[in-house]
Amino acid sequence: MPRPATRHRPAHPHLSAQRSARWLLAGLLLLAGTAAGAAQTVAEPVPDLQRLCLECHQGDSDRVQAPLLEGQQHDYLARQLRQFQQRHRDSFPMSSIVAGMSAAELDDLARRLAQQPWPSRPQAVNATAVARGADLARQAGCGQCHGTDLAGGSDGPRLAGQHAGYLQRQLAAFLDGRRQHPDRADGQPWLAKSSAQDLSALSQYLHAAGRTGQP
Ligand code: HEC
Ligand code: HEC
Repeated sequence: MPRPATRHRPAHPHLSAQRSARWLLAGLLLLAGTAAGAAQTVAEPVPDLQRLCLECHQGDSDRVQAPLLEGQQHDYLARQLRQFQQRHRDSFPMSSIVAGMSAAELDDLARRLAQQPWPSRPQAVNATAVARGADLARQAGCGQCHGTDLAGGSDGPRLAGQHAGYLQRQLAAFLDGRRQHPDRADGQPWLAKSSAQDLSALSQYLHAAGRTGQP
């Protein structure tokens, strides 16, 4: 009987995976070349993960590629982190960052982030686009799942106040099938095929909705 193949494993696989995730984080920050004192971070033993996450996610104008996370729903954040890890949502650099983390560590990060107040990071929007976006959102019934004020509902994450560019990229990804979005309860598609201009209008509206709290 041939013996089943065994794979070599390090003595402490969990620990070494965690360490490599942290080194990867530190490396990414160095690569980004933006974090003040990043070189120091590499030399320190175990930097605080939440602080490292927010180096990209704090919402400064030059980091708008990364969405705002603080105050987002816990369940939603935890699900996204699991999806990044399982590569059901494949997105640079997130899948690599969470690759070696344990389920408990991911859930703890999601919980700590969700407990923070939502940060306000207003960007310039076009008033005509915002009005067009409001019409589209009303017709599509986005508030059914994302909450009437779009600040998160029982079924959908917070959209109000999120970076417009990030939202537009996600809407495009949903529409061309790179990311999954649920259909409406009445079986209608959640959003009809839309032009890039419509997606931009919708994203600007969702971003601006965070300022007044009004959809
Ligand atoms: C080097 C920059 C960088 C670092 C560091 C980073 N992220 Fe991200 N993260 C991103 C980018 C960029 C995206 C957007 C990906 C996309 O467009 O799909 C993202 C997306 C996310 C999302 C999805 C949010 C949503 O609204 O769907 C979550 C959750 C997340 N990151 C959590 C974390 C956590 C937790 C950490 C720390 C362990 C972290 N990130 C560290 C850049 C970073
Ligand atoms: C049937 C309920 C439902 C409706 C209606 C709905 N959504 Fe969603 N939406 C969700 C859920 C659930 C998610 C989270 C999907 C996931 O876990 O990846 C989501 C995720 C999103 C995201 C990603 C947010 C992020 O941080 O990455 C965007 C953007 C979004 N929806 C926009 C919209 C817009 C715009 C409308 C109206 C045109 C809409 N949704 C209507 C349930 C809904």
